[in-house]
Amino acid sequence: MSNKESFGSKFGIIAAAAGSAIGLGNIYRFPCEAGANGGGAFFIVYLAIVLLMGLPLMVSEFIIGRRSGKNPVGAFKTLAPDRKSWSGIGYMGVVCAFLILAFYCTVAGWTIDAVGKSIINYYHGLDNATIQRDFNSLMNESWQPILSEGIFIFLTAFIIIKGVTKGIEKYSKILMPILLGILIILGVKSLTLPGAADGVEFFLKPDFSKITGKVLINALGQAFFSLSLGMGCLITYGSYIAKKDNLTSTAFAVCISDTLIAVLAGIVIFPAAFSFGIRPEAGNELAFVTLPILFNQMTGGYFFCLFFFLLLTIAALTSSISVLEVPVLFLTEELKISRKKATIYSAIGAFVLCVIASESLHDDTPLKIFGLRIFDAFDELTSTFLMTIGGLLTVLFLGWKMKKADFMDEYTNGGTVSMGLRKIMYFIIKFLAPIAITVILITQFIK
Ligand code: PHE
Repeated sequence: MSNKESFGSKFGIIAAAAGSAIGLGNIYRFPCEAGANGGGAFFIVYLAIVLLMGLPLMVSEFIIGRRSGKNPVGAFKTLAPDRKSWSGIGYMGVVCAFLILAFYCTVAGWTIDAVGKSIINYYHGLDNATIQRDFNSLMNESWQPILSEGIFIFLTAFIIIKGVTKGIEKYSKILMPILLGILIILGVKSLTLPGAADGVEFFLKPDFSKITGKVLINALGQAFFSLSLGMGCLITYGSYIAKKDNLTSTAFAVCISDTLIAVLAGIVIFPAAFSFGIRPEAGNELAFVTLPILFNQMTGGYFFCLFFFLLLTIAALTSSISVLEVPVLFLTEELKISRKKATIYSAIGAFVLCVIASESLHDDTPLKIFGLRIFDAFDELTSTFLMTIGGLLTVLFLGWKMKKADFMDEYTNGGTVSMGLRKIMYFIIKFLAPIAITVILITQFIK
């Protein structure tokens, strides 16, 4: 456990958990999901889910991690020694981590590619159609994406092996507020473009008739993905939280900052996309084409573009290390493999899957499962299936398997903090969250 303790003590938990939460999920995936699911309707459902299910689930994962002090598999084994099958939740998390890394690193590869292009001022003077065509041809290329994915996975593994988390913490405290600042500036610019109002209306005006089962499950999946829930990541980080730290306020701070960044991303992207004639349901290109076009129209666009994509890469890295940490900690604690070897094996596994996922984005790809490109299949499988089921089982464990007294003890830091919220929180974890998640999952499966 020595690696873990040093990692934990040096890494402020809010910085770590917010670093995990804030990433491509906010800036790339949230607009894609909102765009494909009706905009404003999705947004309202998303907010409700973050508060009513995301926050309690985050607290639940912290409780399980801190109480056990272990990786997700070991945590359930420790807390339910009489029923080892609960550790299946942890194993599911390990599998989920690889599938997430496969498509996450593909997208992070595009970000690295954009950093390279920003440095050489590649986008300057290109017309909108060319930027769009360029992004599509990137997805159809073989070697360039593999190279940038490789660089990204290498960086992720390097950070995990070197344990330079202290540096990351120090820098992310400065860099993440800068990312926030840039997003605000971009938001102002985007809102003043001609035709921006349509984008604002699309994103913020709720049309409740658009709320379908599909919107619910996608919002649930997006919330879990963005908050890093349901796959053991925050159980892992929970095991580093000090006994005196307040779990609710930590979780609250993480949920708020994560949601703020996602909303800002929407405010930047939709008005600009509408103004440039990019369809809101365009998918992958929504962020990666809209933003370079936006930068082209700004004074100082060169610097904004470069800084933005650099910061996005860093935000993606602080997320990817938290994903990779799940299998690494599992391998070191449960299978007693050295941290270095565990990291190398896991990174190679993730890289192979990532190459398959990114090659599946070629126009004529045979790499499909059930009609979905492997990239999309991994994304769907994890966020709408594995993470939601993982989250459901986690709240069920806390509400129905763990003793209430143990829950309260951990939640109130051994009774030292009085938590007015504790009864409501327990009620949500025991009844509301499991019922709501089950209903959403069932409506989806019936369809
Ligand atoms: N939450 C991260 C993001 O939004 C992605 C992630 C998912 C990280 C699952 C950890 C676990 O980018």
